[in-house]
Amino acid sequence: MLHRYDVLVVGAGGSGLMSALYASKNKNVSVAVVSKLYPTRSHTGAAQGGVGAALGNVQEDHWEWHMYDTVKGGDYLTDQDAAEVFAKDVIEAVYELEHLGLPFSRLPSGKIAQRKFGGHTREFGKAPVERACYAVDRTGHMILQTLYQQSVKAGVTFFNEYQVLDLILEDGRCAGIVAYELASGELHVFQAKAVILASGGYGRVFRVTSNALSLTGDLMSVAYRRGLPLEDMEFYQFHPTGIAKMGILITEGARGEGGILRNSEGERFMERYAPSIKDLAPRDMVSRAIYMEIREGRGLGKDKDYIHLDLTHLPREVIEGKLPDITDFARTYLGVDPVKEPIPTQPTAHYAMGGIPTTIDGQVIQDAQGRTVEGLYAAGEVACVSLHGANRLGTNSLGDLIVFGRRAGVAAARYAAAAGFPEVPGDAAGAAQAEVDRLKASKGSESPAAIRKELQATMMDNVSVFRTEETLSREVEVLAELRERYQKVAVTDQGLRYNTELMEAVELGYLLDVAEATTHSALNRKESRGAHAREDYPERDDANWLKHSLAFSRGGKVELCYKPVVLGRFEPKPRVY
Ligand code: FUM
Repeated sequence: MLHRYDVLVVGAGGSGLMSALYASKNKNVSVAVVSKLYPTRSHTGAAQGGVGAALGNVQEDHWEWHMYDTVKGGDYLTDQDAAEVFAKDVIEAVYELEHLGLPFSRLPSGKIAQRKFGGHTREFGKAPVERACYAVDRTGHMILQTLYQQSVKAGVTFFNEYQVLDLILEDGRCAGIVAYELASGELHVFQAKAVILASGGYGRVFRVTSNALSLTGDLMSVAYRRGLPLEDMEFYQFHPTGIAKMGILITEGARGEGGILRNSEGERFMERYAPSIKDLAPRDMVSRAIYMEIREGRGLGKDKDYIHLDLTHLPREVIEGKLPDITDFARTYLGVDPVKEPIPTQPTAHYAMGGIPTTIDGQVIQDAQGRTVEGLYAAGEVACVSLHGANRLGTNSLGDLIVFGRRAGVAAARYAAAAGFPEVPGDAAGAAQAEVDRLKASKGSESPAAIRKELQATMMDNVSVFRTEETLSREVEVLAELRERYQKVAVTDQGLRYNTELMEAVELGYLLDVAEATTHSALNRKESRGAHAREDYPERDDANWLKHSLAFSRGGKVELCYKPVVLGRFEPKPRVY
């Protein structure tokens, strides 16, 4: 089946909906969204603590301070043109969400409430500042609901429960996508003047993750297979506080409200690692500190492998009133009442700083010279603009998706309004159909679930918070073997309707691609920066490594090249908190 839209958005999370909403404001273009989930099930709905914007509702604040924190938090790998646009635009974007109906929590004055979050400071690092605008601990959920309602009102067409299998690239121009309809098993070709990729991240490559089951790196992989680069994939963020063993997110907002991390001796250990801002240090530092405590025998539990997040000194009204969801999670999943007992937590795979490289208007970049792909845009976690550099600050992902989702939507609609429809070849769905047929016809003996489990376990052991040449080389070998086994996976369900086994096999292929790009990029970067902590190269090395990596898949091999960081008003300095 063939569909035609001027602007086609892939993904219905915050960045997808924001870009669809803004594209639809251009009355000369038709806009559709293709999503593998029903939109309000998208993972943006799991974002809890807030969206950072220098509104200054609680204390004085300025966009320059936010920009500085973002650049320093990113360990100076952040592109400063992106950080400047972001820190300025996110203020207006938050007010815009308020006007679209988002029910933010309020101060007694009636202004949007703001709280502290890791790495957000006043006066260029002097002390933590209240910058996170929040709707209790359901900020992402509220953003998603608000944007979905507004997109429906704006007349955006939705194709829900469609899995994208291919990107149609013809003569350097994007002409559309190929997607599989879960309900019918049919392949659909979507011809479009402009395509915006907004399908999120790939946390499911790790065993312990805060990410939903759906986050399998789909469009990163599809772009990579089509010869486009993936930027800075070695920088993967572990959020310090996932529920122990399960990984479910316990918001950093809990520490923003005064929560404290404690080891088995009851010690507030962050005082030793970040004496000035302690528990509100950036996530890379806090996650490393937690692992150090565990390694040195100060973890808790039978396996001494988690630490405590202590809220018990906070008033019940703060815990239940401002953090209702995580209070409920602790009670439901752990049988722990945070009002009376500390919550067992451990770092959890949370966010990809890397992704498909883009300009600040969301145009996809195809090489180290910065050439763009006509008609192709990306925004949100699937993209790398690069706002977050080597380590994202909490709350900057919601900000990223509203600021850069909006910019991509506006730019794509402007382009589409002036462009003609690109040609779509007659066999556009051929490669996707062949892959579906191969998986269904396979007589192999490998199960996708077994390979996925092994992938997640080894990525967790070899490519998580701490890495070395040895662990990364080991993972390169594991991945080569898993890829071979993937060629022999068999799908037993031959049905057409909701064939989730087939979709899991497809997603496993995507996970293997992003794992490969991540591991090779990490092996090649011989320094420690942000979330990339090489124990064999413990120092940041600006002389050799102040540059972005680009990983390409060429002839079955990973090729890496590098491009400069966009510097600006903030000179790289040692990162002290
Ligand atoms: O901790 C949190 O609420 C997560 C926020 C984020 O990843 O930005």
